[in-house]
Amino acid sequence: MPATILVGTQWGDEGKGKFTDLVAKETTMVVRYQGGHNAGHTLVVDGETFALRLIPSGVLYDHVTVVIGNGVVVDPEVLFAELDALGRRGVDVGPDRLKVAGSAHLILPYHQLLDRLTERRLGRNKLGTTKNGIGPAYADKAARVGIRIQDLLDPKIFRAKLDLVLKERNQVLTRVFNQLPLDADELADRYLGDFAARLEPHIADTVELVHEALERGEHVLFEGAQATLLDLDHGTYPYVTSSNPVAGGACVGAGVGPRYIDRVVGVAKAYVTRVGAGPFPTELAISDDAIGGKDRAGASAEEVAAGDHIVDVGREYGVNTKRRRRPGWFDAVLLRHAVRLNSLSELAVTKLDVLGGLPTVRICVAYRVDGRERTHPPYHQSDLHRAEPVYVDLPGWDADISSCTEPSQLPAEARAVLDTVEEACGVDVTLVGVGPGRDQFLHRKA
Ligand code: GDP
Ligand code: IMO
Ligand code: MG
Repeated sequence: MPATILVGTQWGDEGKGKFTDLVAKETTMVVRYQGGHNAGHTLVVDGETFALRLIPSGVLYDHVTVVIGNGVVVDPEVLFAELDALGRRGVDVGPDRLKVAGSAHLILPYHQLLDRLTERRLGRNKLGTTKNGIGPAYADKAARVGIRIQDLLDPKIFRAKLDLVLKERNQVLTRVFNQLPLDADELADRYLGDFAARLEPHIADTVELVHEALERGEHVLFEGAQATLLDLDHGTYPYVTSSNPVAGGACVGAGVGPRYIDRVVGVAKAYVTRVGAGPFPTELAISDDAIGGKDRAGASAEEVAAGDHIVDVGREYGVNTKRRRRPGWFDAVLLRHAVRLNSLSELAVTKLDVLGGLPTVRICVAYRVDGRERTHPPYHQSDLHRAEPVYVDLPGWDADISSCTEPSQLPAEARAVLDTVEEACGVDVTLVGVGPGRDQFLHRKA
């Protein structure tokens, strides 16, 4: 019963979509276990780009059943838009291929509205969320006033739950935020009408489906969204998402026990990016107006050039939000922590090609806090804000590595980066991305 978890190890956008697609080739089922349409996972196949938000990244293989697990929060409108977009491009995802957990929670319009209004109210202190209603939807789940996918199949229950929660949410919308209240009739019509009818054939007991597949000896892949440092418990709180992307989240968000999992693949960029606010010890300044990023004053010309290089060559802009990502050097201190938190069995390093052309590649191997060197992230976040990275500097390379298919074809300097990452993080680097395309990767170890 082989089961694999694929998890982001940094602050998201590591290239999980590409490597899920790669591993999915050998599986029959890919399950998303948390998050919602805050995710943006990119697959590039034969030069065609697919950007997925809710649908698991195994969807491009006809033989793969894709499952939206109980731990996910679902906006049906976004799901339908994604299905339609795939359909227009010849990827047919009928009810036999896409299953949605009846116990997954719904994102409703008041969640999105409250996410947006709260961010606006926070002003300079905003988190920089994707404004997709993720936090408010998970908050309702925890407060036990959430509405689940299965409620769409029972109009009486749906309406009773909606009335209950909307009464309170409308008070907040009108009294705190000075907005118009939402209309329960209109919402109920929309959700219980077209949405329920279209979703019904996809709704399933996904826990049973996953276990049946495992019991048949099939390979199931659990695909994480967001990443370890955005984890609600283990990330840089409060600058996190509202779910548990760490590998343990797969057990909860899909309904499997830990003994089923025999492989945990972490995905990391050969550098780091972050979208939204929050601490980022190895952040680089860039010459563009750095909204929420590192202050350019005091940064050396070399630092700004490296930051610009990463953003420009790595095309570091959000898949959905189009926001510019904050760039930084690879941080082995945080990665080592991610190895532990996820019990990683191996690491896939993406975007090694992006580092080509830099005179020097830096890897942070320790932090200095109050004159003391540490190799583990400080538990107190104020210390993380003050942590000064201790770098190992490695020589760069100029050669284009985007068509390398074997480690031996890489320049010695690029191999040295991988060796250093491996040694500093204490985990095997088994897969390496050298370009966005499905075939642009190499196996580093058997
Ligand atoms: P995800 O959210 O983790 O799936 O990652 P995103 O799709 O948000 O961002 C990763 C970006 O990097 C996408 O544009 C991918 O097409 C691209 N990408 C993935 N792997 C590589 C790689 O090895 N090299 C390059 N140059 N781009 C890559
Ligand atoms: P993938 O799956 C990068 C970030 C947001 C914000 C914080 C909270 O593509 O890696 P939320 O809307 O979740 O309440 O926002 O989390 N964030 C992501 N950053 N990649 C993602 O997804 C993200 N999903 C959320 O920018 O800082
Ligand atoms: Mg992404």
